[in-house]
Amino acid sequence: MVDSYGRSITYLRLSVTELCNLRCKYCMPEDGVCKKSHADMLSEEEMIDAVRAAASLGVKKLRITGGEPLVKRNILSICRRAAAVEGIEEVCLTTNGILLPELAKPLREAGVKRVNLSLDTLNPEKYHDITRCGALDDALRGLEAALSAGFKRVKLNTVLIGGFNDDEITELAGLTLRYPVDVRFIELMPMTDSERFGQDAYLPCDAVLEKLPELQAQGKDGVSRLYRLPHAQGNVGLISPVSAHFCKTCDRLRLTADGKLKPCLHAPDACSIKGLTQEEMAARMQEAILAKPARHADLSAEHRSQAGRGMYQIGG
Ligand code: 5AD
Ligand code: SF4
Repeated sequence: MVDSYGRSITYLRLSVTELCNLRCKYCMPEDGVCKKSHADMLSEEEMIDAVRAAASLGVKKLRITGGEPLVKRNILSICRRAAAVEGIEEVCLTTNGILLPELAKPLREAGVKRVNLSLDTLNPEKYHDITRCGALDDALRGLEAALSAGFKRVKLNTVLIGGFNDDEITELAGLTLRYPVDVRFIELMPMTDSERFGQDAYLPCDAVLEKLPELQAQGKDGVSRLYRLPHAQGNVGLISPVSAHFCKTCDRLRLTADGKLKPCLHAPDACSIKGLTQEEMAARMQEAILAKPARHADLSAEHRSQAGRGMYQIGG
């Protein structure tokens, strides 16, 4: 379906849970998540109906997110059923990787085509610090598991945080020499939970180009500007939601785990599809798509996102 500004909406990001086995400082509050009542969250049946409704409106690509999607007990069933929905050409998943050693193979068998892993540092102490509880080795084992399960075009997402990992740009980009993966640097977005970071944390992605002048431009892939290090097996991607928003080409609709449609990440929730039939869901989605704003307001340390919820409650 085409929105009011001529953008074709073909991509649904479905958050399947607000829960996570990590507590990244830019994503979650310190004291963890206040667990909503089970009855407030979408059931598996409702999620699949929502995917069907979205597909009926022309959505072709589905990304499963969270929270951490792999802590969801029925994640394999959700993936398998979503991948079988007519019109859905590709199901991808974003994860912190911790549970991939057990789940990489079954996810592939369930029809997940690609996985993105979050990895913000290669230093074990810093990994523990930013995730408040995680072990770097577990995430790296997850990466190895994704590769040995046969996932292709695996992407590593690194949130670029000034004063935290800007001294590791070379090492992180260097993962493309060691593994057949893309490493994507993403500008830190000023969401509620990233408030703890000072002004200097908001580095533009161009800092990566300054650090690595040997990067060769490769064109674009969706919202990511692609570069390559000589002899690398994958690309370095730069994603700049803050310094250069990509609203003009935004093809996304989001659905949160508690059933709220979000036509724009940085706008307040649109409406709920909890408890609706597939046809009613499709009608609500149509309304949400028509209400998708032309663009979100400029973001900065002072002008924070109007999303009204944390990233773990939206889907990273
Ligand atoms: N800015 C940028 N990316 C974020 N994520 C979560 N919070 C933010 C933020 N404030 C993204 C990270 C992580 C994914 C789950 O969500 O890329 O890898
Ligand atoms: Fe969990 Fe991802 Fe949020 Fe980190 S960024 S707390 S891994 S959902």
